[in-house]
Amino acid sequence: MKCRRCENKASVHMRQHKLALCKEHYLEWIPEQTERFIKKYEMFTRHERILVAVSGGKDSLSLWDILVRLGYQVDGLYLGLGIDGGIGYSDESRRLTEKFANANNLKLHIVDIEKEYGQPIPVLSQISHRGYGKPCAVCGLAKRHEMNRIARDLGYDVLATGHNLDDEAAVLFGNTLSWSGDYLLRQGPVLAGAQGLARKVKPLCRFYEREMTAYAIARDIEYIYEECPFADGSQSIFYKESLNLLETARPGVKLTFYLNFLEAKKSGNLFVDRNAGQALLHSCPKCGQPTSAPDLCSFCRMIGKASTARTPDLQL
Ligand code: AMP
Ligand code: FES
Ligand code: ZN
Ligand code: ZN
Repeated sequence: MKCRRCENKASVHMRQHKLALCKEHYLEWIPEQTERFIKKYEMFTRHERILVAVSGGKDSLSLWDILVRLGYQVDGLYLGLGIDGGIGYSDESRRLTEKFANANNLKLHIVDIEKEYGQPIPVLSQISHRGYGKPCAVCGLAKRHEMNRIARDLGYDVLATGHNLDDEAAVLFGNTLSWSGDYLLRQGPVLAGAQGLARKVKPLCRFYEREMTAYAIARDIEYIYEECPFADGSQSIFYKESLNLLETARPGVKLTFYLNFLEAKKSGNLFVDRNAGQALLHSCPKCGQPTSAPDLCSFCRMIGKASTARTPDLQL
């Protein structure tokens, strides 16, 4: 298959967008799209100072790379969580983040949780007895707290994270399965700032995970392949796998799920009680059953149409 923008052979095929691009044009397309999302959701401007939270994974390193390429004022923040998991997870992710920052001459802030608070995340988790033995709850809490603290203390206007569409769709799926209204109303590409809370943005929220992998590889970004060792068997991985099954059968379903949710939220249609208008029902003039249609009920209209449509066929 050929690239949509030139005569060269396509190297990235995106069934979900019915789009194929060569490497060169793919590396143009990703920043163009990111810029579009930044503007569409009014995330930030070129006059604002951005702090991007970088974990050493493909998404956040790519996000940093894209924002720099687009000419934004953006520095990095790495949080040392003190997670080993037999693979030196935190040490390796820090090494790769520092390597990227040095190679591109970028400013990186490093905060080590153990140095700052006396214990690494797994120990803090044990001591606090939160999260049923897994440190993920304490880790999430510490990450949110520290990201906000640094953004605020160092005077950044906005905090950006590398969450991609797969992350967002999985969170949405989980919140929908449990109908967690408060979480659903808060989920989105931008969380407005408030007193003491930095504005939070997710510029990659419309990119599939595999689109970000392809970007990181095409840009020769060295990132940590391993997931956090504690993520194994997590609910979020289960939701991602379930959504991937749906996506294989219906390419694009993940994006539609997320975008239609954002639309419904924007138009105020989420959780509107449509039955509130029941008083407007009247009797259908033909069958007498209650209906909200202005004249005949939908069933009688359907039967009416079917009988007129069938007549010429039967005469043939
Ligand atoms: P996760 O919660 O691990 O899926 O990561 C989501 C986003 O949080 C990443 O894309 C990063 O922007 C940010 N993040 C995760 N871990 C770290 C970390 N150790 N230091 C800085 N940012 C992080
Ligand atoms: Fe925090 Fe896994 S427990 S990244
Ligand atoms: Zn091309
Ligand atoms: Zn506090």
